[in-house]
Amino acid sequence: MHTVQSTAAFSKAAMYRQLHEQLSALFDGERSALANAANMSALIYELLPNLNWAGFYFLQGRELVLGPFQGKVACVRIALGQGVCGTAAERRETVIVPDVHAFPGHIACDAASRSEIVVPLIQNGRLLGVLDLDSPQLARFDHEDRAGLIAAADLLLLHTDFTRIADAVA
Ligand code: SME
Repeated sequence: MHTVQSTAAFSKAAMYRQLHEQLSALFDGERSALANAANMSALIYELLPNLNWAGFYFLQGRELVLGPFQGKVACVRIALGQGVCGTAAERRETVIVPDVHAFPGHIACDAASRSEIVVPLIQNGRLLGVLDLDSPQLARFDHEDRAGLIAAADLLLLHTDFTRIADAVA
């Protein structure tokens, strides 16, 4: 049992190291928010197992508006405070939902989704949007995913100019 857990933990850590390295290479010399977010959603969707959606919503006024993503077509506008995305954005903290059916107000874009993680994008104290990942597997996301995805979002924020793609809320 212990060996299995260690192996799984190692492979998840290794996968996030790989994600970080490949994102660093993609972002090198490129500051376009559209390009970097699009490539990041594609890379996450390709590298992380058991996902059915990975992508971005960017803040415009008091709404999150759909950005680059991989997966099925999704709802376009989410008000701050609504759903998992709006909740993470309003609280300005990463939200992990182990069972979306047990989250009041969850917005179901794909009926196959069973668990979700949403990481807010905050640059210099300003909320720009969220990174959202969905899984068809219950309780797919844990503390390692949280740490790995926050680090990935930080890398995006460090390398990217969001001025033409999102309103920032101070
Ligand atoms: N489930 C999200 C909506 C976005 S989709 O999952 C792509 C939510 O509750 O905010």
